[in-house]
Amino acid sequence: MLILAFESSCDETAAAVVENGRIIRSDAILSQVDTHALYGGVVPEIASRKHIEAIAGLTDKALAGAGVGKSGIDAVAVTYGPGLIGALLVAVNFAKSAAYALGKPLIPVHHLRGHIAANYLAFPELEPPFLALCISGGNSMLVDVAGYTRMSIMGATRDDAAGECFDKIARVLGLPYPGGKPMDDLAQGGDPHKYRLPRAKLDHDLDMSFSGLKTAAVNLIHNAQQKGEALDLPSLAASVAAAVSDELVPRAMEAARRSGRRVLAAAGGVAANRTIRADLERACQENGIKLYLPPLRLCGDNGAMIGSQAYYEYLAGVRGDAGLNAYANLEI
Ligand code: KG4
Repeated sequence: MLILAFESSCDETAAAVVENGRIIRSDAILSQVDTHALYGGVVPEIASRKHIEAIAGLTDKALAGAGVGKSGIDAVAVTYGPGLIGALLVAVNFAKSAAYALGKPLIPVHHLRGHIAANYLAFPELEPPFLALCISGGNSMLVDVAGYTRMSIMGATRDDAAGECFDKIARVLGLPYPGGKPMDDLAQGGDPHKYRLPRAKLDHDLDMSFSGLKTAAVNLIHNAQQKGEALDLPSLAASVAAAVSDELVPRAMEAARRSGRRVLAAAGGVAANRTIRADLERACQENGIKLYLPPLRLCGDNGAMIGSQAYYEYLAGVRGDAGLNAYANLEI
């Protein structure tokens, strides 16, 4: 089954063709990152306008890359939330029109379910049940994936997402947007113990918090600037990465212990972080947990992950109709 899948929830426009949920036939992406970098963050209206400009061309590219014509597509899938509402609406409306014109089923897909499904594209043997650590620019959560379409949240951030924490601290340091990757690069060779940064303690102990860490790091930078003190930037970046990782990795291990799951998959843009990947590898080895880390190109937003999850949503009977809408907030 060939699914033509669309994604426009934030600042990447993507169209992909995926076969039977597992094989990427094509994956066309256009990132708007250079445009938003001028403003230090995503400007929602600009994002929507850029999606409108790009989506038809990317569709042609995805179909050509897959070597299929429009009539060779069996279904059309689209991210319908969560994300920036104006941005989401572009692909939702385009996908609705495509499904209508082609007379094919329409499959709405949750963005984070897509991030989790990126692992199905990289690892043919991976099947539910497993635990997923979803860490992106807008969300951070531990999800129990009981089945391809049966998921429950075991813990989630109470405030900022892990990616937002990296991005905001990077911005104060004057690093380019999005700051996660530049922070990761800066941290290489730094001393992760040099700066003392807070770790959150919450009553529901699988929940996470990143706003205290973000504020502490920003205050530390401002203090040093006001006093004219030089900061050891690689060590500061390494200390931030260690603090974010400490927020995530022990909780993932505790979630595995409580749920009895022996398989953990990482998902989302922040899963590209080298400190988090190394800490997850170490912790999973110590606890006898099989770990799946998606390749970097599948960690960020893409259309293929939506096409993968769409296949399983289709098998479960999920269909969108002509009234399908987009949602800024959406339960997984
Ligand atoms: O999953 P994604 O592409 O978009 C969302 O759905 O949010 O994630 C983007 C986030 C940004 O916050 C970006 O700074 C972060 O992923 N990111 C990283 C790294 N690469 C991307 N954060 C830490 N280390 C990285 N290497």
